[in-house]
Amino acid sequence: MISQKIRYLCLKHNYIVFEMEERNRTLGEFIIEHQNSFQYSTGELSRIINSIRLAAKVVNYKVNKAGLVDIVGAAGEQNIQGEDQQKLDVYANEVFIQTLINREIVCGIGSEENDDFITVAGSDNSHNNKYVVLMDPLDGSSNIDVNVSVGTIFSVFRRITPVGTPVTIEDFLQPGVNQVAAGYVIYGTSTMLVYTTGDGVNGFTLNPAIGTFYLSHPNMKYSEDGKIYSINEGNYVHFPQGVKDYIKYCQLEEGDRPYTSRYIGSLVSDFHRNMIKGGIYLYPTTSKTPNGKLRLLYECNPMAFIAEQAGGKASDGFGRIMEIQPTELHQRVPFFCGSKNMVEKAEEFMAKAK
Ligand code: AHG
Ligand code: MN
Ligand code: MN
Repeated sequence: MISQKIRYLCLKHNYIVFEMEERNRTLGEFIIEHQNSFQYSTGELSRIINSIRLAAKVVNYKVNKAGLVDIVGAAGEQNIQGEDQQKLDVYANEVFIQTLINREIVCGIGSEENDDFITVAGSDNSHNNKYVVLMDPLDGSSNIDVNVSVGTIFSVFRRITPVGTPVTIEDFLQPGVNQVAAGYVIYGTSTMLVYTTGDGVNGFTLNPAIGTFYLSHPNMKYSEDGKIYSINEGNYVHFPQGVKDYIKYCQLEEGDRPYTSRYIGSLVSDFHRNMIKGGIYLYPTTSKTPNGKLRLLYECNPMAFIAEQAGGKASDGFGRIMEIQPTELHQRVPFFCGSKNMVEKAEEFMAKAK
């Protein structure tokens, strides 16, 4: 407990000190405590999460200054998927990649913003690290210029190729069920890092005054049912019939319906809200985007792992996202993710209309 005198001084000097934080563990402490629960633990995975924590703080600092410094707006280039890169996309990409490379803890990195994967060799030119990281360094980048929450998504796999050799594409094209860790950072009203290593989902909130993440959302869980559906309804006429039918079902006045519609346009933010409040996120195929928009390796797999670890579900409309065998790095898939019963109901409509 904080003494009355300290509490008075904190309030008087406007220090941001919370009793909750005194009781709660920091992310650094949590990582150390849980290190031994990882399969084949050698500390390497812990060091990766630690690096992501550091990079997240650096990006957070920049995101918070957007508007004050010359960091908003387009960078003038397109990524391999033909999307305009924003300055913050490029900046966040460099920060995460450099942080992971400098610490010599991964053998390869795949990023939404890079055409090809990066092979990471140690300073002695060795290839002895065991993990690859895949990431969407800045998710929802079209929201930056208008001061709406953006995020970072990451996914970690153990390499398939032998330690000591350079990574190959095989190490990146693994189904989501092989993930050993996944998480996201949300740069929102507060900045949070949420992640799983396959033993539940925990959320940590950054205290910006001291630059420390504290465990604020232990053991996050989706409710089985929810009342929010999140989809870009502007694409309605292009949706498959099953999705159109499901939307009408959400809007029907019956039982606990109509559901409410909420769509930010940043997957991380829409997912985060739905996990806390109960809901479903959908990015189906459209006639304009016949494979959907979201990327299997950088967005769908990591979110699916988190969703399942939180008791939710993630599907491509017909089957489990994490069982899809990827065939290419920047592959897109339709994505239905959220409260278990809602995803199952959407799948029912998809099957019926097939
Ligand atoms: P990114 O900024 O990494 O390219 O991702 C944007 C994604 C995702 O965050 C969001 O849910 C979706 O695109 C929104 O797409 P629409 O604008 O088509 O609704
Ligand atoms: Mn994204
Ligand atoms: Mn992105």
